[in-house]
Amino acid sequence: MTDRVVDLRSDTITKPVVAMRLAMASAEVGDDVYGEDPTVRALEDRIADLLGHESGLFTPSGSMANQLAIRLHVEPGQELIADELAHVLRAEMGAAAVFSGISSRSWAAPRGLLDPAAPLRMMQPDAGTYQVSTKAIVVENTHNFGGGTVQPLEAIRALREATRPLGVAMHLDGARLWNAHVATGIELSAYGQQFDTVSVCLSKGLGAPVGSVLVGSRDLMAQARVWRKRYGGGMRQAGILAAGGLWALDHHIERLADDHTRARTFSEAVASRFPAVIDPAYVQTNIVMAEVGQTGWTAAEFVAAAGQRGLMIFAVNETAVRLVWHLDVDDADTAYAADLMNTMLAEGAQRP
Ligand SMILES: Cc1ncc(COP(=O)(O)O)c(C=O)c1O
Repeated sequence: MTDRVVDLRSDTITKPVVAMRLAMASAEVGDDVYGEDPTVRALEDRIADLLGHESGLFTPSGSMANQLAIRLHVEPGQELIADELAHVLRAEMGAAAVFSGISSRSWAAPRGLLDPAAPLRMMQPDAGTYQVSTKAIVVENTHNFGGGTVQPLEAIRALREATRPLGVAMHLDGARLWNAHVATGIELSAYGQQFDTVSVCLSKGLGAPVGSVLVGSRDLMAQARVWRKRYGGGMRQAGILAAGGLWALDHHIERLADDHTRARTFSEAVASRFPAVIDPAYVQTNIVMAEVGQTGWTAAEFVAAAGQRGLMIFAVNETAVRLVWHLDVDDADTAYAADLMNTMLAEGAQRP
């Protein structure tokens, strides 16, 4: 056992810094269900503007923002399509089926990377009376279970151009769009304008405790406001939460580059000894996927043993683990994680 704990399970585990807490404590508030919270309004307007859309809606979570968008674009009995690793399909507890009666299909996408040919091949915008009609495509950027993959803007544009005349909506799950923006220098609005709706999260790399924002046209957001209330997501003096988000926009976007550098440094340190475990060429942002399965460990065993030595990570399947860099991890933590990872991978070879 060790006293040191480095928690790389997710960038959702960050705790709000003192200055953020102070901004939250002094936020101006009102009843947001009545549309009277000025801080929530300020956050919604600011994010809509950043993403090149007319209007925004504050939600308690990224999952709710995604599910509201899906509900707006797809009617019960119709379908959404997304890649097989998409958060909306894998990690939102079947919400589109449970709440909205929506059917879904997926395409294979190594590392979550978007190849527009795949959705274009499978979608059926108007399948008549015999098959299910495709009404929305969800794209995730950056891609979580893909390993922080940044989607090429050209691929998104190609998909948009092909789907627009067919009336198939596009939603961007931009929980980590901030990371894509910082990694590429591409404006948030350049990504945002390719989509009918975009969700972004404040509670991941940006370090706010709660909250996401969905953006789209004024009309779509008016409908989303009704559905948010219906789903139980209408909040009252939510400006206290929105103030954390506003503070994060001012102070925590550019610093995401530090998370990317540390993830890269870690991956190079491990790849220099175990090139089959991590390919640094695939480490584009703050997420690292490590294939520990060939080294004598299962992912679950590796996660348990690393946890005992103070490194908390996440098993994504039977053979791979995920490590995510964030605000509460520094250079020394990164070096510790790399040393421990290399030691454990070397030990794997001795395991029975
Ligand atoms: C890509 C992606 N989309 C959506 C979400 C959902 O966010 P929340 O946990 O706030 O519901 C997550 C959460 O990790 C995510 O990684």
